[in-house]
Amino acid sequence: MEKLVITGGHRLSGDIPISGAKNSALPILIATLLAGGEHRIANLPDLVDVSDTLSLLGRIGCPSLVSGDTLRLNTERIAFHEAPYDVVRRMRASVLVLGPLLARHGEALVSLPGGCAIGVRPIDQHLKGLEALGATFELTGGYIHGKAPNGLRGAEIHLDMPTVTGAENIIMAATLAEGTTVIHNCAREPEIEDLARFLNTLGARVEGAGTSTVTVHGVARLTPASRPYRIMPDRIEAGTYLCAGAVTKGEVRVTGVEPSHLSALIGKLEEAGCEVEVGGDWVRVTGAEQLRPFSVRTAPYPGFPTDMQAQLMVLAILASGTSTLEETIFENRFMHAAELTRMGADIETRGNLATVRGRPALSGATVMASDLRASAALVIAGLAAEGLTQVLRIYHLDRGYENLVGKLRHVGAHIGRVSDREQDLQRLHLAAML
Ligand code: EPU
Repeated sequence: MEKLVITGGHRLSGDIPISGAKNSALPILIATLLAGGEHRIANLPDLVDVSDTLSLLGRIGCPSLVSGDTLRLNTERIAFHEAPYDVVRRMRASVLVLGPLLARHGEALVSLPGGCAIGVRPIDQHLKGLEALGATFELTGGYIHGKAPNGLRGAEIHLDMPTVTGAENIIMAATLAEGTTVIHNCAREPEIEDLARFLNTLGARVEGAGTSTVTVHGVARLTPASRPYRIMPDRIEAGTYLCAGAVTKGEVRVTGVEPSHLSALIGKLEEAGCEVEVGGDWVRVTGAEQLRPFSVRTAPYPGFPTDMQAQLMVLAILASGTSTLEETIFENRFMHAAELTRMGADIETRGNLATVRGRPALSGATVMASDLRASAALVIAGLAAEGLTQVLRIYHLDRGYENLVGKLRHVGAHIGRVSDREQDLQRLHLAAML
């Protein structure tokens, strides 16, 4: 398997352009199923999750062609209505096909995602919302078989907790339901707003996305927009590079972003002693010579994002005192702590609370990550550490960070990707020397 090799201790300096948001791109690509015809999507990030979504859509009968960062996708025909286990297992967001397939096609068969490295992650709220719209579900052989042969009807839905993809599934289904749907206690993440904007370009009538009450007035039919739709910038990618700038005592500017999406992170960077400057579509961080400790608690948007918890932990590790990080969204999202400890971090985790006693430095090590954001944290730690760090299992990073190595090198990081073949050659070379 490929790995990343990082020589730490170099201050990062310069601009990093931010790609389209993974967590917007996935629901938007799947939402094209609601409107038969040719769609064009721009600012599409080049990620494994995106190509997995396109191959899922291909299996449903919707071919696509990517040229540069723009995609043409034809959803004229829905030939199959299944998201099989081998696809859902790799990418949980595949469960988003439930809503659109039920709404346009009246039937969907989706493998139940099961747990993953960060928690159990049930989909009961997705099903509860879709059932309120009139769909029925049966569980057979690990698959959820949903049916709505007579179409969906608008309903009043009170969600037990804000769920991002749950809200997206229900909103998509409601666009083609008869009558009005009101979703209470809806998640407010910017990616939901981006999906709603996209749906409205197809002729949907979604109101209130980005607030906790979303109203969807159903329409009889949706049609592809005449202009390409541009995916919003990835706030988590941007936040990850800001953390990298901060821990290397560097000066990194992320460009092409929506600064208001980064407010919670900016607050924590400032609390940790970094200097942050905000422009119209950029944010610059200047790392502190000595980081200060802080406390953070993850929460649904606009709270501090769980997807930035691992990366922020690296700042806490290098701070001048004791910090606490409380994870309230996923029950098992401290897997990176053990790997960071191997690099010299002093972290104690108890339930959903991590107590981090700051250290003057980290030292390079060979580490392995369990999920996407944990991998990003290990890369950031490697950039700050003394000596050589090797990050294994980098397929996680390919799921969510476009051209990570190129972007980091551009701002002065000493980072490279070593292929399987290169590793084999190195082993042969070593064996010949012994
Ligand atoms: N939950 C339920 N029942 C449900 C749905 C959610 O109990 O039916 C619980 C979850 O177990 C969790 C909480 O509600 O404890 C919130 O989960 P949510 O449904 O919001 O998460 P998600 O939609 O599965 C999306 C992102 C994640 C991100 C979370 C939280 C996408 C494709 N994924 O997941 O992104 O961490 O929201 O913001 O949008 C990532 O990009 O690395 C990533 C994991």
